[in-house]
Amino acid sequence: MQVTYYPNKILRQPTKEIEKFDDNLANTAKEMIKIMREDKGVGLAGPQVSLDQAIVVIEPQPGKTKVLINPTITNNSQDMTLSEEGCLSFPGIFGIVPRYKKVTINYQDLNGKKHKLKAKDFLSYVLQHEIDHLNGNLFIDKLIKIRQGEDKLKSLLKEANETIKLYE
Ligand code: CO
Repeated sequence: MQVTYYPNKILRQPTKEIEKFDDNLANTAKEMIKIMREDKGVGLAGPQVSLDQAIVVIEPQPGKTKVLINPTITNNSQDMTLSEEGCLSFPGIFGIVPRYKKVTINYQDLNGKKHKLKAKDFLSYVLQHEIDHLNGNLFIDKLIKIRQGEDKLKSLLKEANETIKLYE
């Protein structure tokens, strides 16, 4: 398992719902957590390791890892805030993205058990970023300002033959 970088097309494909909660899934989650930590990320989604499955791992605070299977946002606050983000699929690129201040999500754990989670601030932004990945949406789509790596991003967009709102 290794990280998939933009403009690999799998990053744009919506994932499929996971229905089998077996050892294989648990091992996938374990490997994803390892990669997320090695690359010093706070979240990693299935498509970023070339999986077309709705799985996310996060570590918003050191040691506090969580595995989210089939996560979906069920509610969000009206107020938005600006989040400074990067993405393991875009090394060296950082920018400002508007996010909901609070979200509520539904997800399943590795045993298939259903959970509801209310999140605000940083955890909320991490969840929105990762759940976007499961739908083929990337943080670059929502950028309002680039902080680092603009030249690199421009050349990647050219390679991908894509445009983003920031450059329209
Ligand atoms: Co990302």
